[in-house]
Amino acid sequence: MNEKERVAEEAVKLVEDGMVLGIGSGTTVAVFLKRLGERIRNEGLKVYGVPSSYQSHFLALKAGIRIVDLFEYPELDLCIDGADQIDRNLNCIKGGGGALTREKIVSQASKRFIVIAEERKFVEKLSMPVPIEVIPFAYGHVVRKLQEMGGVCKLREGSGKLGPVISDNGNFIIDCDFGEIENPKELEFSLNTVAGVVENGVFCNVDEVILGSREGVRILKK
Ligand code: A5P
Repeated sequence: MNEKERVAEEAVKLVEDGMVLGIGSGTTVAVFLKRLGERIRNEGLKVYGVPSSYQSHFLALKAGIRIVDLFEYPELDLCIDGADQIDRNLNCIKGGGGALTREKIVSQASKRFIVIAEERKFVEKLSMPVPIEVIPFAYGHVVRKLQEMGGVCKLREGSGKLGPVISDNGNFIIDCDFGEIENPKELEFSLNTVAGVVENGVFCNVDEVILGSREGVRILKK
């Protein structure tokens, strides 16, 4: 079993019949959804879910999860998601897959938010560029404001299409490097005060982290 399978295995145990899940995005969540699909088939569970991206929407459907939305379920039981970096206070940087806005929405809508990740993502201080979703109209303005805040900005460009990556919400993603982040909570808040920023990839609302290594898993709680 590899690290992703180990953490997925652990997280899937937390799902109970009738639960409404917030479903994150990424490759670790894809493994979780596959395992959850097996449980749904073998045990006849009914599981409902609000996916945070088209990627997880398709995978959740395949797993047999009934797709619902926040109109019907404004509060979710449990959110499971991956992360790109995690510090000892369980603050995370997310959004490597560009799904940060909906990920933050489903995580905040959930009673319990659990991150599953490989041990190598656990760091002393968050330091990778922060993904920031931006309304295209505001791009130049937002870059100027982020530079004033000490950030070095890079517009995300993808493969399979020329030009900027367009998020599931129709926006640009800027990866903004602030070096080592001393106060993640303050940065999360101040980034969202810039007009044109839809959401940013600093997450300070994680309740638990399940880290996987070759030796096994360890669980960090707030
Ligand atoms: C998606 O936008 C991200 O927030 C992912 O949750 C994060 O990048 C982790 O992805 P992996 O599980 O693929 O490493």
